[in-house]
Amino acid sequence: MREYTPENITDAVLEQMSTTPDPRMKEIMEAAVKHLHAFARDVKLTPAEWIKGIEFMTKVGQMCSPARQEFILLSDTVGLSALVNIMHDKTKMEEATGASLLGPFFRENTPVFASGGQIARDLKGGEEILMYGRVTNAKGEPLANALVTVWQTAADGRYDIQNSLEEIDCRGIFRTDANGNYSIRTVRPLGYFIPLDGPVGQMVMAQKRHGKRPAHIHFLISAVGHRELVTALYLSGDEHLEDDVVFGASGDLVAEVKANDPNAPMKGLPTIHFDFSLARETEADRKAGRVGADPGAITAGDGKTSAPYGAPPPEMLAAEASKKPGF
Ligand code: BEZ
Ligand code: FE
Repeated sequence: MREYTPENITDAVLEQMSTTPDPRMKEIMEAAVKHLHAFARDVKLTPAEWIKGIEFMTKVGQMCSPARQEFILLSDTVGLSALVNIMHDKTKMEEATGASLLGPFFRENTPVFASGGQIARDLKGGEEILMYGRVTNAKGEPLANALVTVWQTAADGRYDIQNSLEEIDCRGIFRTDANGNYSIRTVRPLGYFIPLDGPVGQMVMAQKRHGKRPAHIHFLISAVGHRELVTALYLSGDEHLEDDVVFGASGDLVAEVKANDPNAPMKGLPTIHFDFSLARETEADRKAGRVGADPGAITAGDGKTSAPYGAPPPEMLAAEASKKPGF
Protein backbone atom coordinates (compact mmCIF):
# COMPACT_ATOMS: atom_id res chain seq x y z
CA MET A 1 0.00 0.00 0.00
CA ARG A 2 1.33 3.39 -1.02
CA GLU A 3 2.42 5.92 1.67
CA TYR A 4 1.76 9.57 0.84
CA THR A 5 4.27 12.20 1.92
CA PRO A 6 4.26 15.99 1.45
CA GLU A 7 6.76 15.42 -1.36
CA ASN A 8 5.14 12.56 -3.33
CA ILE A 9 1.44 13.44 -3.06
CA THR A 10 1.67 15.95 -5.93
CA ASP A 11 2.87 13.25 -8.34
CA ALA A 12 0.14 10.90 -7.12
CA VAL A 13 -2.52 13.47 -8.01
CA LEU A 14 -0.93 14.19 -11.40
CA GLU A 15 -0.77 10.47 -12.13
CA GLN A 16 -4.47 10.06 -11.39
CA MET A 17 -5.40 13.07 -13.54
CA SER A 18 -3.22 11.89 -16.43
CA THR A 19 -6.28 10.25 -18.06
CA THR A 20 -7.79 13.70 -18.84
CA PRO A 21 -8.56 13.56 -22.59
CA ASP A 22 -8.74 17.33 -23.20
CA PRO A 23 -5.07 18.40 -23.55
CA ARG A 24 -5.62 22.03 -22.53
CA MET A 25 -7.67 21.04 -19.48
CA LYS A 26 -4.92 18.56 -18.57
CA GLU A 27 -2.23 21.24 -18.88
CA ILE A 28 -4.18 23.77 -16.79
CA MET A 29 -5.17 21.36 -14.05
CA GLU A 30 -1.67 19.88 -13.77
CA ALA A 31 -0.16 23.34 -13.36
CA ALA A 32 -2.90 24.35 -10.90
CA VAL A 33 -2.27 21.30 -8.70
CA LYS A 34 1.51 21.77 -8.80
CA HIS A 35 1.25 25.44 -7.81
CA LEU A 36 -1.43 24.83 -5.19
CA HIS A 37 0.59 22.07 -3.51
CA ALA A 38 3.78 24.17 -3.69
CA PHE A 39 1.89 27.05 -2.05
CA ALA A 40 0.60 24.83 0.79
CA ARG A 41 4.11 23.42 1.39
CA ASP A 42 5.64 26.88 1.16
CA VAL A 43 3.47 28.49 3.84
CA LYS A 44 3.10 25.22 5.80
CA LEU A 45 -0.68 25.61 5.61
CA THR A 46 -2.38 24.48 8.85
CA PRO A 47 -5.83 22.81 9.04
CA ALA A 48 -7.28 25.98 10.65
CA GLU A 49 -5.94 28.14 7.83
CA TRP A 50 -7.19 25.67 5.22
CA ILE A 51 -10.75 25.80 6.61
CA LYS A 52 -10.56 29.60 6.84
CA GLY A 53 -9.76 29.65 3.12
CA ILE A 54 -12.69 27.32 2.40
CA GLU A 55 -15.01 29.54 4.46
CA PHE A 56 -13.80 32.60 2.58
CA MET A 57 -14.38 31.04 -0.86
CA THR A 58 -17.82 29.85 0.30
CA LYS A 59 -18.76 33.40 1.30
CA VAL A 60 -17.48 34.69 -2.05
CA GLY A 61 -19.79 32.22 -3.84
CA GLN A 62 -22.73 33.04 -1.59
CA MET A 63 -22.31 36.74 -2.38
CA CYS A 64 -22.75 36.14 -6.14
CA SER A 65 -26.10 36.93 -7.72
CA PRO A 66 -27.35 38.07 -11.15
CA ALA A 67 -26.36 41.59 -10.06
CA ARG A 68 -23.07 40.87 -8.31
CA GLN A 69 -19.98 38.88 -9.22
CA GLU A 70 -17.83 38.56 -6.12
CA PHE A 71 -15.48 36.02 -7.79
CA ILE A 72 -14.60 38.56 -10.50
CA LEU A 73 -14.03 41.11 -7.74
CA LEU A 74 -11.71 38.67 -5.99
CA SER A 75 -9.85 38.04 -9.24
CA ASP A 76 -9.61 41.82 -9.76
CA THR A 77 -8.29 42.63 -6.29
CA VAL A 78 -5.53 40.01 -6.43
CA GLY A 79 -4.44 41.26 -9.87
CA LEU A 80 -5.44 38.07 -11.71
CA SER A 81 -7.91 39.83 -14.03
CA ALA A 82 -5.30 42.47 -14.88
CA LEU A 83 -2.66 39.78 -15.50
CA VAL A 84 -4.91 37.79 -17.86
CA ASN A 85 -5.92 41.01 -19.59
CA ILE A 86 -2.33 42.19 -20.07
CA MET A 87 -1.24 38.77 -21.37
CA HIS A 88 -4.18 38.70 -23.78
CA ASP A 89 -3.47 42.25 -24.94
CA LYS A 90 0.08 41.25 -25.90
CA THR A 91 -1.29 38.68 -28.36
CA LYS A 92 -2.88 41.23 -30.68
CA MET A 93 -1.50 41.13 -34.22
CA GLU A 94 -0.73 44.86 -34.50
CA GLU A 95 -0.34 48.00 -32.37
CA ALA A 96 -3.65 49.39 -31.18
CA THR A 97 -5.22 50.99 -28.09
CA GLY A 98 -4.38 49.07 -24.92
CA ALA A 99 -6.95 47.02 -23.02
CA SER A 100 -8.19 47.54 -19.48
CA LEU A 101 -10.54 45.71 -17.13
CA LEU A 102 -14.16 45.00 -18.00
CA GLY A 103 -14.91 44.89 -14.26
CA PRO A 104 -17.98 43.41 -12.55
CA PHE A 105 -20.47 46.08 -13.65
CA PHE A 106 -20.72 45.43 -17.38
CA ARG A 107 -24.20 44.32 -18.44
CA GLU A 108 -25.66 43.16 -21.72
CA ASN A 109 -28.83 45.20 -21.24
CA THR A 110 -27.66 48.59 -22.49
CA PRO A 111 -29.74 51.21 -24.35
CA VAL A 112 -28.77 52.48 -27.81
CA PHE A 113 -28.23 56.24 -28.23
CA ALA A 114 -27.91 58.55 -31.23
CA SER A 115 -24.55 60.30 -31.57
CA GLY A 116 -24.13 62.98 -28.90
CA GLY A 117 -26.78 61.45 -26.59
CA GLN A 118 -26.57 61.92 -22.82
CA ILE A 119 -26.23 58.57 -21.00
CA ALA A 120 -26.85 59.91 -17.48
CA ARG A 121 -30.56 60.09 -16.66
CA ASP A 122 -29.84 62.65 -13.97
CA LEU A 123 -26.64 64.62 -13.50
CA LYS A 124 -27.14 64.31 -9.70
CA GLY A 125 -25.24 67.54 -9.21
CA GLY A 126 -22.29 66.28 -11.27
CA GLU A 127 -20.60 68.04 -14.16
CA GLU A 128 -21.82 67.30 -17.69
CA ILE A 129 -18.97 66.44 -20.06
CA LEU A 130 -18.56 65.46 -23.70
CA MET A 131 -16.39 62.60 -24.93
CA TYR A 132 -15.52 62.50 -28.58
CA GLY A 133 -12.96 61.09 -30.98
CA ARG A 134 -12.45 58.56 -33.72
CA VAL A 135 -12.34 54.80 -33.92
CA THR A 136 -9.73 53.72 -36.47
CA ASN A 137 -7.83 50.64 -37.56
CA ALA A 138 -4.14 50.26 -36.71
CA LYS A 139 -3.18 52.35 -39.77
CA GLY A 140 -5.33 55.25 -38.53
CA GLU A 141 -8.06 54.72 -41.12
CA PRO A 142 -11.59 55.41 -39.83
CA LEU A 143 -13.86 52.54 -38.91
CA ALA A 144 -17.42 53.46 -39.80
CA ASN A 145 -20.34 51.87 -37.98
CA ALA A 146 -18.17 50.59 -35.10
CA LEU A 147 -20.12 49.86 -31.91
CA VAL A 148 -19.00 51.91 -28.92
CA THR A 149 -20.48 50.63 -25.66
CA VAL A 150 -19.82 52.81 -22.66
CA TRP A 151 -20.63 52.47 -18.94
CA GLN A 152 -19.61 54.26 -15.78
CA THR A 153 -20.74 55.32 -12.33
CA ALA A 154 -23.28 58.08 -11.85
CA ALA A 155 -22.06 61.28 -10.19
CA ASP A 156 -22.61 59.65 -6.78
CA GLY A 157 -19.92 57.05 -7.55
CA ARG A 158 -22.34 54.12 -7.93
CA TYR A 159 -23.15 51.90 -10.92
CA ASP A 160 -26.87 51.46 -11.71
CA ILE A 161 -26.68 47.70 -11.09
CA GLN A 162 -25.55 48.38 -7.50
CA ASN A 163 -28.93 50.00 -6.88
CA SER A 164 -31.15 47.41 -8.56
CA LEU A 165 -31.25 45.03 -11.52
CA GLU A 166 -34.06 47.09 -13.03
CA GLU A 167 -32.20 50.41 -13.01
CA ILE A 168 -30.38 51.25 -16.26
CA ASP A 169 -28.33 54.43 -16.10
CA CYS A 170 -25.00 55.81 -17.24
CA ARG A 171 -24.51 53.21 -19.95
CA GLY A 172 -25.15 53.32 -23.65
CA ILE A 173 -24.33 51.94 -27.09
CA PHE A 174 -23.26 54.36 -29.84
CA ARG A 175 -22.22 53.89 -33.46
CA THR A 176 -19.43 55.69 -35.23
CA ASP A 177 -20.32 57.74 -38.31
CA ALA A 178 -18.84 57.35 -41.81
CA ASN A 179 -15.61 59.03 -40.66
CA GLY A 180 -15.25 56.85 -37.57
CA ASN A 181 -16.39 59.65 -35.23
CA TYR A 182 -18.19 59.08 -31.96
CA SER A 183 -19.62 61.64 -29.58
CA ILE A 184 -21.09 60.91 -26.15
CA ARG A 185 -22.41 63.16 -23.40
CA THR A 186 -22.12 61.95 -19.85
CA VAL A 187 -21.47 63.10 -16.31
CA ARG A 188 -17.92 63.41 -15.03
CA PRO A 189 -17.27 60.21 -13.03
CA LEU A 190 -15.62 60.25 -9.62
CA GLY A 191 -13.18 57.76 -8.17
CA TYR A 192 -15.04 55.18 -6.09
CA PHE A 193 -14.70 52.37 -3.60
CA ILE A 194 -15.10 48.92 -5.08
CA PRO A 195 -17.87 46.97 -3.26
CA LEU A 196 -16.41 46.52 0.23
CA ASP A 197 -19.50 45.11 1.95
CA GLY A 198 -18.67 41.46 1.15
CA PRO A 199 -15.87 38.95 1.77
CA VAL A 200 -13.57 40.56 -0.82
CA GLY A 201 -14.03 43.91 0.91
CA GLN A 202 -13.13 42.26 4.22
CA MET A 203 -9.96 40.92 2.67
CA VAL A 204 -9.05 44.31 1.18
CA MET A 205 -9.69 46.08 4.48
CA ALA A 206 -7.76 43.44 6.47
CA GLN A 207 -4.84 44.23 4.18
CA LYS A 208 -5.21 47.96 5.03
CA ARG A 209 -5.64 48.88 1.34
CA HIS A 210 -7.56 52.02 0.40
CA GLY A 211 -10.04 50.04 -1.74
CA LYS A 212 -10.52 52.71 -4.41
CA ARG A 213 -10.44 52.90 -8.20
CA PRO A 214 -9.46 56.14 -9.93
CA ALA A 215 -12.26 57.93 -11.85
CA HIS A 216 -12.79 56.15 -15.14
CA ILE A 217 -15.18 55.39 -17.99
CA HIS A 218 -15.44 51.90 -19.50
CA PHE A 219 -15.51 51.21 -23.23
CA LEU A 220 -16.16 48.07 -25.25
CA ILE A 221 -15.55 48.78 -28.93
CA SER A 222 -16.15 46.43 -31.81
CA ALA A 223 -16.02 46.65 -35.58
CA VAL A 224 -16.36 43.94 -38.22
CA GLY A 225 -13.04 42.17 -38.91
CA HIS A 226 -11.37 43.76 -35.87
CA ARG A 227 -10.43 42.50 -32.44
CA GLU A 228 -12.90 43.65 -29.79
CA LEU A 229 -11.37 46.27 -27.51
CA VAL A 230 -12.25 46.22 -23.81
CA THR A 231 -10.76 49.29 -22.23
CA ALA A 232 -11.34 52.30 -20.00
CA LEU A 233 -10.24 55.91 -19.85
CA TYR A 234 -8.82 57.15 -16.55
CA LEU A 235 -9.19 60.83 -15.68
CA SER A 236 -5.92 62.67 -15.25
CA GLY A 237 -5.29 64.15 -11.85
CA ASP A 238 -7.00 61.37 -9.88
CA GLU A 239 -5.04 60.54 -6.72
CA HIS A 240 -5.24 56.77 -7.33
CA LEU A 241 -3.93 56.47 -10.89
CA GLU A 242 -0.77 54.80 -9.55
CA ASP A 243 -2.38 52.50 -6.99
CA ASP A 244 -5.72 51.39 -8.43
CA VAL A 245 -7.03 48.64 -6.10
CA VAL A 246 -7.68 46.42 -9.14
CA PHE A 247 -4.55 47.33 -11.14
CA GLY A 248 -6.50 48.49 -14.20
CA ALA A 249 -5.26 52.07 -14.67
CA SER A 250 -2.32 52.60 -17.02
CA GLY A 251 -0.57 55.67 -18.40
CA ASP A 252 -1.61 55.19 -22.04
CA LEU A 253 -5.28 55.33 -21.03
CA VAL A 254 -5.18 58.56 -19.03
CA ALA A 255 -7.43 61.24 -20.52
CA GLU A 256 -7.74 64.89 -19.64
CA VAL A 257 -10.99 66.78 -19.21
CA LYS A 258 -10.40 70.08 -21.05
CA ALA A 259 -12.39 73.21 -20.31
CA ASN A 260 -12.11 74.79 -23.76
CA ASP A 261 -11.54 72.52 -26.72
CA PRO A 262 -11.88 74.42 -30.01
CA ASN A 263 -12.23 71.17 -31.97
CA ALA A 264 -15.09 69.73 -29.92
CA PRO A 265 -18.16 68.83 -32.00
CA MET A 266 -20.41 70.48 -29.34
CA LYS A 267 -19.53 73.74 -27.66
CA GLY A 268 -19.93 74.79 -24.05
CA LEU A 269 -19.03 71.52 -22.32
CA PRO A 270 -15.76 70.29 -20.80
CA THR A 271 -14.45 67.58 -23.12
CA ILE A 272 -12.42 64.39 -23.26
CA HIS A 273 -10.92 63.78 -26.67
CA PHE A 274 -9.68 60.22 -27.24
CA ASP A 275 -9.09 58.26 -30.42
CA PHE A 276 -9.27 54.47 -30.21
CA SER A 277 -7.59 52.09 -32.63
CA LEU A 278 -8.50 48.46 -33.16
CA ALA A 279 -6.21 45.67 -34.34
CA ARG A 280 -7.30 43.32 -37.10
CA GLU A 281 -8.98 40.19 -35.78
CA THR A 282 -7.38 36.75 -35.91
CA GLU A 283 -8.99 33.33 -35.63
CA ALA A 284 -7.62 33.06 -32.07
CA ASP A 285 -9.18 36.44 -31.14
CA ARG A 286 -12.60 35.11 -32.08
CA LYS A 287 -12.27 32.35 -29.46
CA ALA A 288 -10.46 34.34 -26.77
CA GLY A 289 -13.47 35.64 -24.81
CA ARG A 290 -13.42 38.51 -22.34
CA VAL A 291 -11.95 38.91 -18.87
CA GLY A 292 -15.39 39.57 -17.37
CA ALA A 293 -19.08 39.17 -18.07
CA ASP A 294 -22.52 40.44 -17.19
CA PRO A 295 -23.03 38.93 -13.70
CA GLY A 296 -26.50 37.79 -14.79
CA ALA A 297 -24.89 35.67 -17.53
CA ILE A 298 -22.85 33.79 -14.91
CA THR A 299 -25.29 33.53 -12.03
CA ALA A 300 -28.79 32.68 -13.18
CA GLY A 301 -31.20 32.51 -10.22
CA ASP A 302 -29.71 32.31 -6.76
CA GLY A 303 -27.88 29.03 -7.39
CA LYS A 304 -29.65 27.38 -4.45
CA THR A 305 -31.61 24.16 -4.69
CA SER A 306 -33.82 22.39 -2.20
CA ALA A 307 -33.72 19.08 -4.11
CA PRO A 308 -31.52 16.26 -2.78
CA TYR A 309 -28.12 16.51 -4.39
CA GLY A 310 -24.85 14.64 -4.77
CA ALA A 311 -25.94 11.60 -6.82
CA PRO A 312 -23.36 10.56 -9.44
CA PRO A 313 -24.58 10.81 -13.06
CA PRO A 314 -26.30 7.66 -14.43
CA GLU A 315 -23.40 6.73 -16.74
CA MET A 316 -20.98 6.60 -13.81
CA LEU A 317 -23.42 4.50 -11.77
CA ALA A 318 -23.81 2.15 -14.76
CA ALA A 319 -20.03 1.85 -15.13
CA GLU A 320 -19.74 1.09 -11.42
CA ALA A 321 -22.51 -1.52 -11.59
CA SER A 322 -20.86 -3.30 -14.55
CA LYS A 323 -17.65 -3.83 -12.57
CA LYS A 324 -16.88 -7.21 -11.08
CA PRO A 325 -17.92 -7.52 -7.42
CA GLY A 326 -15.27 -7.51 -4.69
CA PHE A 327 -12.39 -5.17 -3.82
C1 BEZ B 1 -14.90 48.68 -12.35
O1 BEZ B 1 -14.18 49.44 -12.85
O2 BEZ B 1 -16.05 48.76 -12.65
C2 BEZ B 1 -14.40 47.69 -11.38
C3 BEZ B 1 -13.38 46.87 -11.77
C4 BEZ B 1 -12.92 45.91 -10.89
C5 BEZ B 1 -13.48 45.81 -9.63
C6 BEZ B 1 -14.51 46.66 -9.24
C7 BEZ B 1 -14.95 47.62 -10.13
FE1 FE C 1 -15.61 50.83 -13.28
